[in-house]
Amino acid sequence: MLRGKNVVLGVTGGIAAYKACEIISGLKKIGANIDVIMTKSAAEFITPYTFQSLTGNPAILNMFESPKYWDMEHISLAQKSDILLIAPATANIMGKVANGIADDMLTTTIMASNKPVVFAPAMNTKMYENPVVQKNMETLIARGYHIIPPKGGMLACGDEGQGKLQDVTIILEELQKIYQKELKTEKKDLEGLKFLVTAGPTREIIDPVRFLSNHSTGKMGYEIAKAIVKRGGRVTLISGPTSLRAPEGVDLVLVETAEEMFEAVKKAYPQCDILIKSAAVSDYRPKIREAQKVKKESQEEEMQLTLVRNPDILLELGKMKKPGNIHVGFAAETENIVEHGQEKIQKKNLDFIVANDVTEEGAGFAHNTNIVHFIDKNGDHSKTEKVEKSAIAHEILDKVLLLK
Ligand code: CTP
Repeated sequence: MLRGKNVVLGVTGGIAAYKACEIISGLKKIGANIDVIMTKSAAEFITPYTFQSLTGNPAILNMFESPKYWDMEHISLAQKSDILLIAPATANIMGKVANGIADDMLTTTIMASNKPVVFAPAMNTKMYENPVVQKNMETLIARGYHIIPPKGGMLACGDEGQGKLQDVTIILEELQKIYQKELKTEKKDLEGLKFLVTAGPTREIIDPVRFLSNHSTGKMGYEIAKAIVKRGGRVTLISGPTSLRAPEGVDLVLVETAEEMFEAVKKAYPQCDILIKSAAVSDYRPKIREAQKVKKESQEEEMQLTLVRNPDILLELGKMKKPGNIHVGFAAETENIVEHGQEKIQKKNLDFIVANDVTEEGAGFAHNTNIVHFIDKNGDHSKTEKVEKSAIAHEILDKVLLLK
C-alpha cells in the first residue's frame, strides 16, 4: 500500500530515537521512499548520517543553519510526502503542533502539510499521563491528526507503565491502515449523494433559565458530516446545542428543542436521499414552558414537573420513507444492545442501526473514541473495536454505499 509512496519520518529526541532505524528498514521492505527530518534534540541520540545511510536521502536537521535551503524544503517535503510519521514523538513535539508552534524544520513541515500526520509517542509514564500531554493529544486527534498509543512495560528510565514506543510492526500496520483510510477520503465516492445528518442533544425548556437535556456532545454527528464532505457528498447538518464548530462545506441548521429539530428535519428531508440520525433527542419535554423563572416555594420539599412525549422524529420520517432512501438510526443502550437495536430497526423502518453500549469504557458520549454494534435489517450484526469516532463515521458511510 505504501509501495512507491513518500513517507516523511520525523524523529524527535528520546531514547527510542534509535528505533527509527528499525522503522526505516520496515518501510524500505514495504517499498516506500523515506525522508527523515530530525529535531536538534534527536541529534543528541542519533546522527543524521545514520539516517542518510539507511534511507539514501539526506536527513534534514536544523532549518536555521541553511536558510535558503529550508525555505523551499519544508514546503516541498510537505507537498512531496504521502504521509508523515513522527516516531518517536516527544511530549514537546505534540505540544508544539497542538498549539500551533512552528519553530524548526519538523514543525514547519507538519504545519505546511495537508497529508495525514501520525504521531507515535514515547516518553516517561508520568509525563505521558500528565493531563497537559493528554489534553494536547486530544487536541491533535480533534484536529484530524492520528496517534498510535505507546505500550506499557519497563521504560529506559526504570519506571514501569505506559510510555514505551509501540512495537515497530504495529506502527507500520497502523500507518498503512491510516493511509488506506485517508486514501478513501480522497476518492470522492459520495459525489451526487445528499445526506441529512442530525447531531447533538436537544434542550427541553422548563423556564428561561432551566432545561432538560442529556450528555450528547454532538461529536459523532459532526464527524459523519465532516467525512461526507471529505468524500464529496452534500450534507445538511441539523444540530442541537454543542460547543463544536461545523465542518467547512456543511449546510448547518441550529436548533434547540426536539420539536424544532422535527420541523427542521421535515423541511430538509425532501431534498435528501440518506438520513443519518445521530442526535440524542429528548423523548419528553416539560408540559408547560414557563415564561418566568420558577421560584421555589418556601414550604415545599418536593416539586412535580409534568412531562409530555416529544415526537419520535425517526419514527415519523420512517413513515415518509421513499423507495431508494436510506435511514440510519443510532441507539444508546445500557443492556440487551442487539435485541433493542433490532426492535428499533423494525419500529422505525431503518436500514441499519449503530448501537453503542454507553456503559463500556471508551464508548458513547463525550469520548473521541467509540465502540459500536452495527445491526442491519437482515439481522446481520458486527461490533467494532474501540476506534476513533472519525473511523466509525467512515464505516457508516461505507455501509450506506453498499446499500446504494
Ligand atoms: N430518535 C428520534 N426522536 C426521538 C427519540 C429518538 O428521532 N424523539 C432517534 C434518535 O436520533 C436515534 C434513534 O431514534 O437515531 C434511537 O434513539 P434512542 O433514544 O436510542 O431510542 P428511543 O427510540 O428513544 O427508545 P428508548 O429511549 O426507549 O431506548
